[in-house]
Amino acid sequence: MDTTEHSDNRAAPSQPAAATAEPNAATAETATATMEAAAAIPAQAADSAESRAAAQKPATAARIYDYYIGGTHNFPADRAAAEAAIAHVPLIRPAARANRAFLRRAVRHAAEAGIRQFLDIGSGIPTEGNVHEIAQDVAPEARVVYVDIDSVAVAEGLEILEGNPHATSIRGNLLDTAAILAHPSVAELIDFDQPVAIILCAVLHFVPDDEAAHRAVSELVAATCAGSRLILSHGTLPDETIDQQEKAEFAAADKLITGMYTRQTTTPVRMRERSDIETFFEGYDLVEPGIVFVPEWHPRPDDVDEFAGEPHQSAILAGVGIRQ
Ligand SMILES: C[S@@+](CC[C@H](N)C(=O)[O-])C[C@H]1O[C@@H](n2cnc3c(N)ncnc32)[C@H](O)[C@@H]1O
Repeated sequence: MDTTEHSDNRAAPSQPAAATAEPNAATAETATATMEAAAAIPAQAADSAESRAAAQKPATAARIYDYYIGGTHNFPADRAAAEAAIAHVPLIRPAARANRAFLRRAVRHAAEAGIRQFLDIGSGIPTEGNVHEIAQDVAPEARVVYVDIDSVAVAEGLEILEGNPHATSIRGNLLDTAAILAHPSVAELIDFDQPVAIILCAVLHFVPDDEAAHRAVSELVAATCAGSRLILSHGTLPDETIDQQEKAEFAAADKLITGMYTRQTTTPVRMRERSDIETFFEGYDLVEPGIVFVPEWHPRPDDVDEFAGEPHQSAILAGVGIRQ
């Protein structure tokens, strides 16, 4: 059994945030080095409007998420934003862990089906047990390109991947798929004449505009050949199985979370309904069981179910498609 695959899932859902704050504080030196490395990334022009906005809103989605899943690649502003969210919506942490666990299971599923190339957009920080470890555990020759808009996530990724000739991390914007597809590292590692798994996990809800989100997905689909995979997860407001009171609670949580991301990061967030999420899979045959809440997608017998039989409480839907 691959123990790393489930390590995130093992933490108790009610683990006090302070328990993870200490190790993070201890990594101040790493954080400084990372900031310096990030500053050296040419894609982030020092005086661009983007970097000015980032300076005003110093928390980022990548590092807030890293904090949710118990990582150490985050700064005080990220921890403060994450803590504010957790205080009002404690389920956000187990939901993030369940999302990462889905991603791992879906990557293993694809690798075991013979997929040897992975393009992970909105990858976050490729900490232990991420795509390259799972894919290369199945097939050491598997190739992985991580793409993220957050230069710190990219810098951390490059550090983690040092010495791995088949995996790299690049800075890119999902809304500029042409630049991602033309990137030299993508050209070097991904052969689009062969099946590739495009991974869009917990990233499309950072693209509030429907047209832009669909355009990005269609452009990526168009670049891939038959047999390619789409591994996708997306935040949602569950509506099919819950009563009015629970609906109201989800709506209040959504308001708090969207407010936090709008105020404190440069990436506003927008949940979508199941029917909207389904449309991202046009042109794909869905792998059974279709689009389900993250804990429900091919759970393994040794998984810890943090949602105690209430998977809709994860508020993240996910699916895997095979390109027709
Ligand atoms: C919640 S994290 C998900 C990380 C990882 N995919 C997972 O599911 O475990 C979302 C990531 O998307 C990135 N992101 C947000 N908007 C993006 C965009 N337009 N292009 C590329 N990355 C983006 C954020 O920086 C962050 O790292």
